[in-house]
Parts: sequence; C-alpha cells; structure tokens
Amino acid sequence: MAVNIAVVGATGAVGEEFLRILETRKFPIKELRLLASRRSAGKKMQFRGADYTVQELSKHSFQGIKIALFSAGASISREYVPYAIESGAVCVDNSSAFRMDDDVPLVVPEVNPQEIAKHHGVIANPNCSTIQMVVALKPIHDAARIKRIVVSTYQAVSGAGLKAIDELQKETMSVLSGKEGFKRYLFPHQIAFNVLPQIPQNNAFLSNGYTSEELKMINETKKIMGDNSIRVTATTVRVPVVRGHSESVNVETEKKITAAEVKRLFSKAPGVTLMDDPANQVYPLATNAVGKDDVFVGRIREDESIANGINLWVVSDNLRKGAALNAIQIAEMLLCQTAG
Ligand code: A2P
Repeated sequence: MAVNIAVVGATGAVGEEFLRILETRKFPIKELRLLASRRSAGKKMQFRGADYTVQELSKHSFQGIKIALFSAGASISREYVPYAIESGAVCVDNSSAFRMDDDVPLVVPEVNPQEIAKHHGVIANPNCSTIQMVVALKPIHDAARIKRIVVSTYQAVSGAGLKAIDELQKETMSVLSGKEGFKRYLFPHQIAFNVLPQIPQNNAFLSNGYTSEELKMINETKKIMGDNSIRVTATTVRVPVVRGHSESVNVETEKKITAAEVKRLFSKAPGVTLMDDPANQVYPLATNAVGKDDVFVGRIREDESIANGINLWVVSDNLRKGAALNAIQIAEMLLCQTAG
C-alpha cells in the first residue's frame, strides 16, 4: 500500500541520499513532501523523473503524512517531531535528539528489528559509526559474547554535512595551489592532508576528555545490542575522505573464537560483505564502499596480546547504511508491520 512520506532536511547530504535510496528500492510512495529551511523553499529536486518543490518546514508540514524521515539536526527534530507525531505520522529520526530516551527504540534492522514495534511515534536511527560497527559485531556477540570493545574511527567529512565536503574540497585546492589565507568555516583546524581527533568539530570536549561522538558510540552500542555489560571505549577521528567511514575495532570475547570462525560467521551475516584476502591486498576501502549498502569487514586477526581477542577493519558508506539506508530499512519494516 502506497503511503505519504515527508523528508525533513531533503536538501542535505543525508536528505539527497534518502531520495536516491527511496527511488532505487521502489518504496511505495503516494505523496512525497520535501522539507528544508526557508533558504531552500522553492528549490526543485528530482525524484523518479518528476520535479518536486522543496517546502519550508513548519508545524503544519505533516498533515496526511504516514512516515516522516528526519535528518536536519537534533534541534530541528526536538522541535518538529512532536508536531509530526501529533499529525499521526511515525518519525524515523536520524538525529541524536531521542536516541537514548528509554521509550524510543534505537534500531539497526540486522541487530534489533524487534524493537521497532515498541515505538510511540518515533524510532531513532543510530549514529553512523555505531551502525556499521554493530552490524559487524552482532554475529560475534551471538557466538562468543563480547565483553569489551576498543574502537578507533576514521570518519569521512560528509558525516558533518554538505558544507564539510565543500570545505575539504576548497581547502585541498587551496593547499595544492600554495595559496595562503584559506578561510575555514567549519573545522577548527586544517582538514585537508590532516587528521582531526575531534568529532563533532564544533562541540566542546566533555569533562572526562571524551567527545560527544565517542559517548554516542559507547552508549548506543549497549542500547542496540541490548547488553549493558559490554564495556566500550572509543576514539573518533575525522580524516580527509569525502565519503565512507572506516574503523579499527578490537573486541574481547568471553568464549574463544578463532579468526577462521569469525570469517565463517561474516560469510553468512546479513548486511555484511567479507573482504579479507590479504595475500592479494583485498580489504575494505572507503572508496569501494561508496554507494553500496553493505558493511565491509576484513583484516580479521586474533589479538595475540589477550586470550580471547579479535581485530577487525570495518568500512561502510556513512550516508547510506550509516544514515539514509538504515532509516529506510526501518521505514520498510514499519510498513510491513502496519500492513500485517
Ligand atoms: P537547507 O538546505 O535549507 O539549509 P547537511 O547535514 O548536509 O548540512 O543538511 C542539513 C539539512 O537540514 C538541510 O536539508 C537543511 O536545509 C536542513 N535544515 C537546516 N536548518 C533547518 C531549519 N531551520 N529548518 C528546516 N530544515 C533545516
């Protein structure tokens, strides 16, 4: 049954990806409403060969809408998700606004799809780095119970939106041309040819020295895996890559699991592609993950410094599985549940 869909933040990096995925997955849409700020009102966007006009988001934007996909930042979600719910829509929210609320499901369909049915009008889409990590870790947790995770991320600039891509591209050209005085407008330091251990770039560090992105990885992992006993520590880092997050993940398990067993698990895990042929220099790369749906895993090794440890290299398209695709998979499951 075709439904009315609203996309909040349609003109952003994730918003554009929403449209691409809705198109290719043949999502059953009766009416599509594209919403953004006043700056974009009147702008035309293409969907399934037709022109759509972007409308300014308001509290009246959701009349008749069945599913609202939000990706315009946490403050917009906090303000407008309640209006959408009041109008009868179910919201899939890509922001961090409601993720840790007890009565809001935080869902990765390969990990905890059963949570979707418990929603009260909003389902939260997790943080991009967390999504790809838990897709990879779920089969290991089921087989050997993960006790501890140590993760370091190498995150693409598109996670910070279209402006961040623009800054990386302009700054790269400026450095290459040897010009002085490039005016940064987003990142606190040069991102071109550099690596910044601060995500998000505009947030103060917390009193314990962590960033909010690191805390998201720690807290959201436990909530999605449904296991508060997993110990997690994270260092999140921005690298000069446009698209595709990479992660070095070290896990300690309760039960011994060998690298060969982990590879076998990944070869049949949903949403995972095993890319692990070091002799032929085959391992996951951000450039290969762009535009793909899966989480790619490779460099699988036993951690020889402890009894039960595994090292992994995990890569995925942060705008797809890390954001728009995961949200649309949730929306598809919602539709199945209401149809059933
Ligand atoms: P706009 O393009 O009109 O600014 P990104 O993450 O790529 O920066 O995109 C953010 C998205 O959120 C854009 O679609 C942006 O719309 C939207 N957005 C930002 N501020 C608002 C707002 N006040 N009301 C509605 N949409 C907003």
